Amino acid sequence: MRSQTSLSLLSTLLLLPLSTLAAFTGEVEESGVKFNFKELKQHSVVIEHTIPPSVEKTVWTINPLGKIELDKDVDSKDQCPDGTQVCGIVSVWRDGKPEEHPIQILPIADAESSKDSEPVYNILKDSDGKVGGLNVTLHGAEYGEKKIKQKAVVQFLCDKLEGTEQPDKDGKGDNALKFISYDEAEGTLTLEWKTKYACEGASAEKPVESKGSWGFFTWFIVIVFLVVAAYLIFGSWLNYNRYGARGWDLLPHSDTLRDLPYLIKDFLRRAVNTFQGSGGRGGYSAI
Ligand SMILES: *[C@@H]1O[C@H](CO)[C@@H](O)[C@H](O)[C@H]1NC(C)=O
Repeated sequence: MRSQTSLSLLSTLLLLPLSTLAAFTGEVEESGVKFNFKELKQHSVVIEHTIPPSVEKTVWTINPLGKIELDKDVDSKDQCPDGTQVCGIVSVWRDGKPEEHPIQILPIADAESSKDSEPVYNILKDSDGKVGGLNVTLHGAEYGEKKIKQKAVVQFLCDKLEGTEQPDKDGKGDNALKFISYDEAEGTLTLEWKTKYACEGASAEKPVESKGSWGFFTWFIVIVFLVVAAYLIFGSWLNYNRYGARGWDLLPHSDTLRDLPYLIKDFLRRAVNTFQGSGGRGGYSAI
């Protein structure tokens, strides 16, 4: 039992590096500057084009923490495929109502990209060397007849905005997330995201919640657990082979372990006696 637990634990530890594929999940360290966008959420910006008698609406959606959450109420064929991180959906509206299906679905960037198309980070600095933000380039698959490889350049700019403010319906104005351009020939979407989390030192003020990441403490516990497990297993094996021990006697120091409750009780009684004793005498006070 015990050895099985530590074995599966060990294999988890060994497999761990494999699962950390290069992906943009909101935390970046670039040129010694740490950015943490974990407070930002999936966000969309809508661009409207009037094409009388219709209106063409494009919804650009990005999840700065991973893949876009699929909308359960929408047919999966009318959304970007599962695993998309940046997506564009074009629909035609007539008389204030959308047509049944979108006319274009653009998976711009994948949450988990292959080795040759990992996210690229460019730190933005002004002439004084002050950090103004971070450019994040995310890559996607080929799209359309010309098989143009898609990518998104997200320019995170240091600003006083939180970054979760809702944009206007035309995607302009002083909003957190702004559509800059989509270059069809290049397959490049450019977005701008104003947020205080793009300012230098923002991640230092708000320490990273180590949710899911293996902090020092977790490692410490794991190592202590492994050492104790190894000790118990080896000790039991030794007792079994050398002394033919069975049952509780297998455990190393089994007699000490068995006496432990009495030892603790004894210690507590002594401690209580000492306190009561000094309290009873009274009159003394250390100077
Ligand atoms: C960041 O992205 C913007 C928009 O694409 C571009 O104009 C700018 O040159 C980029 N800056 C860096 C340092 O890569």
